[in-house]
Amino acid sequence: MQAIVQTGSGGPEVLQLQTIPVPRPGRNQVLIRVYAAAVNPIDWKGRVEIMPGLRSVMTTARVPGVDVAGVIEQSGSGVSHLRPRAAVFAMIGRGGTAGLNGGYAEYVLAPAGNVIAKPRTLSFAQAAGLGMAAVTAARVVNQTNIGPGQRVLILGIAGGVGSSAAQIAKSRGAIVIGTATARHNAYLKSIGVDQVIDYSQVKFEEQVQNIDVVIDAVGGDNATRAIQTLKRGGTLISLAGTADAAVCAAAGVRCPSGRGGGPGKAAAFSEGELLEQVAALANAGKYTVQVDKTFALAQAGDAQEFNRDGHTEGKVIILIDAAKAMQR
Ligand SMILES: NC(=O)c1ccc[n+]([C@@H]2O[C@H](COP(=O)([O-])OP(=O)(O)OC[C@H]3O[C@@H](n4cnc5c(N)ncnc54)[C@H](OP(=O)(O)O)[C@@H]3O)[C@@H](O)[C@H]2O)c1
Repeated sequence: MQAIVQTGSGGPEVLQLQTIPVPRPGRNQVLIRVYAAAVNPIDWKGRVEIMPGLRSVMTTARVPGVDVAGVIEQSGSGVSHLRPRAAVFAMIGRGGTAGLNGGYAEYVLAPAGNVIAKPRTLSFAQAAGLGMAAVTAARVVNQTNIGPGQRVLILGIAGGVGSSAAQIAKSRGAIVIGTATARHNAYLKSIGVDQVIDYSQVKFEEQVQNIDVVIDAVGGDNATRAIQTLKRGGTLISLAGTADAAVCAAAGVRCPSGRGGGPGKAAAFSEGELLEQVAALANAGKYTVQVDKTFALAQAGDAQEFNRDGHTEGKVIILIDAAKAMQR
């Protein structure tokens, strides 16, 4: 099969289109014929060596990509509920970032529990964009127990995780406010965002107060600056940085870890259950995936660099079978 193999760390030139063997499904695994795969920041962070935890995977060749959509090609032993040719999307899991099993390929193995029927409202290209962004967002919204009438501030609301969290929070009846540049206004309005603050023009912390929950998908000093927007007793979760614990304590707000879900309710749901929750929202017409830009498999380096530039609206998608990827 054709796949993008990352041969080392460095620039996009380390991503090479190669022919490698089709993997065989083991117990509780499913082989998916991939029509489309998503780009996530973790893909290029694992290439340019800026994420210390990922250094070990850079010494061996790997196929990047954790999120795909396509059809079931073959199921391994122990898998009876997934029929061949069924339209699915999947998150292959972080384990998939090691070795030659990854989403930027014509075939990929996924754990059966993370393989979910494609929502009929989404094309394969859109469904490929659910995966990690949706799991991360659903986990945080569950963890913070966002409910009707609560005021939620999402930093980086136009990106993959931010726009996913926005839609899940809206489906729970929250008032959703977010930071993004004006370029994203029409999209954010279309998914029901109540207020957009253009962070390039104003300081968001001077624009909003009395927030119940902050979700930070930007990092840097955003998390610590956001503490002052929260009510006492409010919650801040940063997915891309760390809020200053002393400032959190002084303000009387909770700042649990956003990495890997943290304790409490988050652990109550598996990745597969979180994917099911979001798929149900999509089938109900309450969730969609904005495909900002698509790239051919051979252009995977360009796709990663486009996302790395930092201004993606929704998701960047790699089309492995361009015609099939556009079908619903
Ligand atoms: N902890 C976890 O489990 C986990 C999981 C997934 C992702 N993450 C992390 O979460 C972060 C977001 O991931 P993602 O997939 O959503 O990334 P993404 O889709 O690439 O995010 C791009 C978005 O960030 C916005 N942005 C950039 N700088 C901003 C700023 N200063 N203020 C507000 N918005 C800004 C851009 O909007 P403009 O065009 O308006 O600038 C763009 O829409 C990444 O750091 C990622 O590594 C963590």
